[in-house]
Amino acid sequence: MVDVLRIKDLIVEYTTQRGTARAVDRVSLTLGENRTLGLAGESGCGKSTLGRSLMKLVPYPGKIVSGDIILNIDHDITWKKGTIKKGDVSILELNDDQLRMIRGSEIAYIFQDPMTSLNPMLSIGKHFIQIQQAHDPTIEDEQALERAKEVLESLGILAERVDDYPHQFSGGMRQRVMIGLGLVLRPRLLIADEPTTSLDVIVEAQILEEMAELKEKFNLTMILITHNLGVLAQTADDVAIMYTGRLAELAPTEALFENPQHPYTEALLQSVPDVTKPDKKLAWIPGAPPDLVNPPDGCMFNPRCPFAMDICKQEEPPLIQSDTGGLVACHLYGRS
Ligand SMILES: Nc1ncnc2c1ncn2[C@@H]1O[C@H](COP(=O)(O)OP(=O)(O)OP(=O)(O)O)[C@@H](O)[C@H]1O
Ligand SMILES: [Mg+2]
Repeated sequence: MVDVLRIKDLIVEYTTQRGTARAVDRVSLTLGENRTLGLAGESGCGKSTLGRSLMKLVPYPGKIVSGDIILNIDHDITWKKGTIKKGDVSILELNDDQLRMIRGSEIAYIFQDPMTSLNPMLSIGKHFIQIQQAHDPTIEDEQALERAKEVLESLGILAERVDDYPHQFSGGMRQRVMIGLGLVLRPRLLIADEPTTSLDVIVEAQILEEMAELKEKFNLTMILITHNLGVLAQTADDVAIMYTGRLAELAPTEALFENPQHPYTEALLQSVPDVTKPDKKLAWIPGAPPDLVNPPDGCMFNPRCPFAMDICKQEEPPLIQSDTGGLVACHLYGRS
């Protein structure tokens, strides 16, 4: 199996007047072709920052400090000003022109909030035209619209609606449009950032099913970012749990749900409602994630962890192999 993506020791920081917050802290990951990696963790733990780094699109004042992001490209990409040869490409070394050729067509990103990501002044068709022409200025409007209609129909939206504006669509349809915009250039790697968070559970289930079908049809490798662990149980091959910018645990989905290793993973799972157990009291995690400008010493989860030992307050746990075929960063493991 080819590795479509390899992230090595990635560090991303936001520097503000208050100080520097390390939003992605030494993250390393490998993603094989056609796999879906779920990325979960509480709000502010760095999921979107990690996702956006992969396209070198960290918003100001964020900065990729160090590390490497290697994308595998399975064909030569040639345009007016040059060629990117197929094979492994280091995203952080690409210039703006090269990035423009990669964004959308090799790595696409479905942003978190469809209402603010779509331009209310532009028809849906115009959005599709712009994306395609930004990548290839020789594409005529008509040709781009035909492709837009095809993609919309594959998402259950009537082709004639290309002339409508974002406000004329329901929340679920807007999200489908966002997915369509992500897919229109046939990317190899799709990063979907909370693609269903603002939707009701029925539309959410429909969209997730459609995404699974599209994944097959478009031969996609995916990173699915979500708060909703239930969504990952159905869709992801592997799940990475982030806490304060670090990987707390990474494991094959089934192993992670059946035998969570990190106390944080366990706590997140305990807080998922279970319809088959209506009497079960939902657990919550006491406290809140720490301020990233002034993080605690040792394991960053130690102030909230029911198993915290002395060492947890002093030393940061390394990420080590777990017994369930994954990785875990916790002092409960790896000591004899
Ligand atoms: N524009 C910004 N300026 C300063 N700090 C920021 C900015 N954006 C993010 N951060 C910092 O980076 C951290 C991670 O933010 P990020 O948006 O990546 O989290 P997330 O896991 O995607 O959260 P959510 O689940 O709410 O979308 C935040 O806790 C914050 O400290
Ligand atoms: Mg986010």
